[in-house]
This record gives sequence, C-alpha cells and structure tokens, in this order.
Amino acid sequence: MNDQPKRIQRIGVLTGGGDCPGLNAVIRAVTKTAIYKHNLEVLGIQDGFLGLVQNRMHPLTEHDVSGILTLGGTILGTSNKCDPARYVTKKPDGTLETHDVTDRCLEHLAINHIDALVVIGGDGTMSGAANFVRRGVNCIGVPKTIDNDLAGTDITFGFATARYVATMALDRIHTTAASHHRAMIVEVMGRNAGWIALESGIASGSDVVLIPEIPFDIQKVADYVTARSRKGRSCSILCVSEGARPLDGKQVVNHVDPTSPDPIRLGGVGKVVADQIEQMTGVETRTTVLGHIQRGGTPVPEDRVLATQFGHAAIEALTSGKRNRLIVMRGRGVTDIDILEAADKQRTITLDHPLLTAARHVGTSFGD
Ligand code: F6P
Repeated sequence: MNDQPKRIQRIGVLTGGGDCPGLNAVIRAVTKTAIYKHNLEVLGIQDGFLGLVQNRMHPLTEHDVSGILTLGGTILGTSNKCDPARYVTKKPDGTLETHDVTDRCLEHLAINHIDALVVIGGDGTMSGAANFVRRGVNCIGVPKTIDNDLAGTDITFGFATARYVATMALDRIHTTAASHHRAMIVEVMGRNAGWIALESGIASGSDVVLIPEIPFDIQKVADYVTARSRKGRSCSILCVSEGARPLDGKQVVNHVDPTSPDPIRLGGVGKVVADQIEQMTGVETRTTVLGHIQRGGTPVPEDRVLATQFGHAAIEALTSGKRNRLIVMRGRGVTDIDILEAADKQRTITLDHPLLTAARHVGTSFGD
C-alpha cells in the first residue's frame, strides 16, 4: 500500500463573500505560482461556492491573469449568499427552503479532477471551507475582507485600501466642514469591528470615533462637540462605524437579507447620530455614508503586496504537502494556521488595544 499523499496536479480557486480590493492580485499570484513554479493546472470557480454548486468553472492560464494585479473586484465573480451546507432556494410560492448540497459540490470537484481548493474569503467563506475540510477536501484559505475582522491573522488584504479611501474622504470632509463651521459625520463600513473607523479616524485626526466595541453615550458626544465650538474650533469631524451602538441601544440595521448566511446589513447610524447631535448642540450637522466605495477600485500598494504574498504562500503550502491551512500574517511574517481556527470567528478591537490608547491620548473621543 502506498501511503504517500497524491501529488497535487490541479487546483480550484474561488473568491467568496463580499468583494474587496486585492482579490485579483491573489488570483494572479496563485495562478502564476502554480503554473510557473509547480506546473499545476488551475481552474477558476465562478461566483464563489455558487460556482461549485452549479459546476461553473474554467481553466485559468497565465494570459487570463495578466494585467489584473491593479484591478479591483474579482475576475471570478463572488457571492455572499451561498453556503452549500445551507443552500437557500425559492419555492414557486416565494417561500425559502434550505438544503445541504455539499455532496453535489463534491461530485463537481471529482468530475473536474480538482485535488485541492484555494478559498479566498472572510469568516463566512472560511466556515464554508470548514464544511469541505470535514468532508475530506484539502482547502487552503486566504484571508480577505475590508473589515479586517478575520480571526487568526493580524491583517487581511483589502483593509489598507478601505482605510485609505475612508481617510481620503475624511480629509475632504474636513475642509468643507471647516468652511461652514459644521459637525460632519462620515459613516464607514466594518460590520461588528471598528478597524476601518479607528484607523481612518486616527489617520485623519477625527475628533470623535464611534466603534461597535465601545458603546457610545450620545450626551458625551454632544458635550464634546459643544466644547469644541466654545473653544472656537471651526468644525468637528466624527468618524462613525456602521456597527456603532449607543449605550443600552441597538445597532442600526439597513436591511435583512434572508437569502444570505449572514442576513443583517448594517447602515444608517451616521444619520441617527447627526440628527441627535444637531438637536442637542445647535451645531449644523451633515452625514456622508461611504458605503461600497470603500470596497471598489484599485488596491493600494500595501494590499497588492500582501495579496501577492498570500497567494504565493497558498500554493507553497499546498505543494509542500500541507492540508487545511489558512495563510495569515503574524508580526511581519506570513505563516499558516489550521483553517478551522478562523471559521465563524471575528477579530474585534480589544479595549486595551494600543491604537485606542494612542487615539485617546491625542484627544480623540470615543463617546464613552
Ligand atoms: O464585509 C464587508 C462589508 O463591506 C461590510 O463592511 C458591510 O457591512 C457588508 O460587507 C455589506 O454587504 P453587502 O455588500 O451585502 O451590502
């Protein structure tokens, strides 16, 4: 009997969950490393796990991935609504039903002779990968998300671009706010983690930063804005995370999508805070919601570099015989951990985080 693991010849690659800058850079690094260094075949699976359910995939050549390093989005397409273990379909009467279609996906992997999967995604996608790992499929995860909230890694690719976009927006808001002596709120994404708000807030010198990890007291925020006006400050800039919540209050939900494994879509807290601040302080207040602008467009160089390192490391892990690993950044180095460690876990800001301390010491209010 031969106990040697089967040599990997053909890999599948997919991008799952919300898109994010740097996905194409990972696809390029995976494909080029696989072809140039290891002579492997690469199949691109379309629209995340949905393409696996529906058997939609095609070979990726070096030609297909040439010129995509700087391109936003994903050439493979993605879906944040498909978890094969809980696949949602609509019945003729419009009601939804859920099936486990993992077996169908396993058949599609077998008929396409896929030996291993590179799964590029966030916590939801890693939970999807965990389902396949438990069924014997070798999955290597690559951590993506603008929210930077995936457990196990210090950073995900996509975050640096979102932080840059949010910072640029806050800088621009600053000049108009100062001209009109207004309080201006910029609502940023991040789900239940405040990383985008905290870091773009620090980078732009925002006066108030509201994050999900620190429930805010609206009276304290209003007092802070009033104190600034009394001191003759020309404006107040508030960077508010979409997941920020008041003391004893709830997050503001934009809508619920029952077809999605993660059905809650946050959004709208910026307007709620603006109305209260204007009413409590008498300072004219405006809100800008950045939304998906933070996810679109070309990745900043930091994300291109990280994505290239991650994609390369995924193929090196596979070809060195590793199974079921998540490629991560720890300190300043790329390494890998058990992929199951990251499934369904979020990395939020700890209350003793040095960035919070530094922000407080330069006078930033967190509304607490
Ligand atoms: O996880 C990335 C993210 O952009 C979050 O910051 C945001 O809450 C969510 O996705 C928005 O999802 P959708 O694209 O479905 O509106």
